[in-house]
Amino acid sequence: MVTQPIRGTRDLLGEEYDKFSFLYQTALNVIPLYGYKGIETPIIEYTSLFERGLGEATDIVGKEMYTFPDRSNRSLTLRPEGTASVARAIINAGLTQTMPQKLFYIGPMFRYENPQKGRYRQFYQLGVESVGVSNPIADIESIALAAHFLNVCGITDYQLQLNTLGDVESRQAYRQALVDYFTQYKNDLSVESKTRLGKNPLRILDSKSPKDQELCANVPKFENFLNNASKAFFDAVQEGLVSLGIPFNLDQKLVRGLDYYCHTTFEFNTQYLGTQNAILGGGRYDGLFQQLGTNSLPAIGWATGLDRLMLLLPELNKPKKLKIALIVDEEWLQPFALKLMQQLRLNNIFCEMPLNDNISKRLKEAYKAECQVLIFVRKEEYCEKNVKIRYLDNMNLFSSAKEKEKTVAISEIVPYLSSLS
Ligand code: HAM
Repeated sequence: MVTQPIRGTRDLLGEEYDKFSFLYQTALNVIPLYGYKGIETPIIEYTSLFERGLGEATDIVGKEMYTFPDRSNRSLTLRPEGTASVARAIINAGLTQTMPQKLFYIGPMFRYENPQKGRYRQFYQLGVESVGVSNPIADIESIALAAHFLNVCGITDYQLQLNTLGDVESRQAYRQALVDYFTQYKNDLSVESKTRLGKNPLRILDSKSPKDQELCANVPKFENFLNNASKAFFDAVQEGLVSLGIPFNLDQKLVRGLDYYCHTTFEFNTQYLGTQNAILGGGRYDGLFQQLGTNSLPAIGWATGLDRLMLLLPELNKPKKLKIALIVDEEWLQPFALKLMQQLRLNNIFCEMPLNDNISKRLKEAYKAECQVLIFVRKEEYCEKNVKIRYLDNMNLFSSAKEKEKTVAISEIVPYLSSLS
């Protein structure tokens, strides 16, 4: 059916669009307070960017990317996330010598996942990336910004899960411990986890298979394999969060689905979205830039799924705005009404001119649009250089106005209505 959107994609309109733009606007208000500047990257990139950046063994690269050859047979991919693109953009703009860089983005991402409530094939992410600072203060600030943004949106019922994946040395030691442990139970592992055992055994820890989860219950603990430097780093992050009054739970199984993470990883979860409980996720990715072929740069960031936040947003409390409708009863008065409407709009006043067949339908249209003031443009007043105003006051805007109707000189109409709005 040509009128249906592609499975896993949807149109945003009405209340949903309002929620989307509320989140967008809130992001634009809050995120720059932390020194971030905006960036837009292309929606399509060379496939190799994600293969190298996210890791070939990840679910995203292995199963979820929209990858296709273009007409010149280059392999392109609709971006499944924003971090690799931002890193590429920093390298491409020659900014790796101009550190730190703090960038944020808002836009659609694409993953070929099984669609359900809160999980789409085209979804919208707001992401922040802070590049160039290896101090754990950057991790603390990044998480504080995430909590600040969610709170300002009115989303406060979440749990912050925190973990560390340590540095390369710690991860190698832990990786070996996991291989030794899971190899004993190799035959009991799910098919997917058997493959992960060879490629990235850490990912077995966030397997959804009940059997794998049972085996994970007695898995060696990462904390016993962290070297002193990694421990100290993670302690500093936790102390910082405590000092800012940001509560968190430690979750050793939070390994995240992308290979570029090291040290701090975190997720904000909610209990209101069933299995799609992750509303925001991120972490440190000090190895990504080197992986993309440039000098090593420390970095930390997160992304949040705006579609999931929309599902959690409380009803929007839209401020009452003055809305005006022009009711014109004779066609020859329409050019005058059109000019008046334009003048009002140029003065930031909401104004509509219903054009239904007859007056009663025009009035109905004005009521439906929740207009509080009607301006009647009629021959008798027009010839006297006046218009008639009627207050509907359906939103109690004019509790002080005693009259229901008023005659106003055309020359006075803009200042008069401006004084009301
Ligand atoms: P991610 O955990 O894959 O991380 O995605 C971040 C957020 O995007 C998730 O917590 C979720 O809210 C939302 N999300 C993911 N997939 C879907 C989907 N199919 N439908 C709806 N929402 C979805 C990243 O993408 C990393 N780039 C985050 C990051 C930035 N790490 C460091 N910097």
